[in-house]
Amino acid sequence: MLSKSSMKSIKLFFLLMDPFCWLGSYSLPPLSFQVEWGEASMIQAERILLRSALKDLYNERFVFLSDSCIPLYNFSYTYDYIMSTSTSFVDSFADTKDGRYNPKMDPVVPVHNWRKGSQWVVLTRKHAEVVLKDKTVLPVFQQYCKRKSLPEFWRDHPLPADGSKEHNCIPDEHYVQTLLAQEGHEAEITRRTLTHTSWDLSASKDRERRGWHPQAYKFSDATPMLIKSIKDIDNVYYETEYRREWCTSKGEPAPCFLFARKFTRPAALRLLDMVNP
Ligand SMILES: *[C@@H]1O[C@H](CO)[C@@H](O)[C@H](O)[C@H]1NC(C)=O
Repeated sequence: MLSKSSMKSIKLFFLLMDPFCWLGSYSLPPLSFQVEWGEASMIQAERILLRSALKDLYNERFVFLSDSCIPLYNFSYTYDYIMSTSTSFVDSFADTKDGRYNPKMDPVVPVHNWRKGSQWVVLTRKHAEVVLKDKTVLPVFQQYCKRKSLPEFWRDHPLPADGSKEHNCIPDEHYVQTLLAQEGHEAEITRRTLTHTSWDLSASKDRERRGWHPQAYKFSDATPMLIKSIKDIDNVYYETEYRREWCTSKGEPAPCFLFARKFTRPAALRLLDMVNP
């Protein structure tokens, strides 16, 4: 979905990631690239999208969206919200307690630059270029930020000798935020994501993995009340930093989220029917 305002030629570019088979965006020929959840291939896929999108010099903002995500507002509202600030929107917080930082990354990526956050970011052109030009942090991630092998992936990889001792790291939940901190751009970001995700804290039977995967809304969940409850959120609390982010736009209190995930296809179709009966 590439759109531009009728008044200006500055463009917002939506980069769509479909983790299952391909990625692309509506004005680019689809690029085929196999990505795996929790692998550094996700970062490479993001970089491929950015490289193509940066070729158009009028693209000023780069919005990563997942294929299970829905917009909460119309285009003009979304455009104004993102364009009214010169910052990127990057969910980013310090959390070294979860053990994902690998001390071997030091000194190239020191622990004080280690960040965590959602991969669904909005980047300014400047920050998109920082991601594309990075030759320092990515190799460190490829070597030292790896997902722990999980039973469902054991068919593809050798069984770990002792799974509990394995280091676990999800590259795409750390890369952009860590890179921007490392390169001294943290003051140029609004440190929150524009995509709402409902973390599933109850469904998993495995205590350790509780909250790893977002809840997917089904047909029966897709109600106007659900959408209103997401649109009404006006602050986000970052536990590890004791930081409450009150959401603003153009200096005024504003809703925190412009997009929401994950919606199954039936849920999204039900919402569409409500908008265009
Ligand atoms: C777009 O959405 C905003 C916020 O909900 C609303 O105030 C505005 O009237 C809408 N604009 C159009 C063109 O529908």
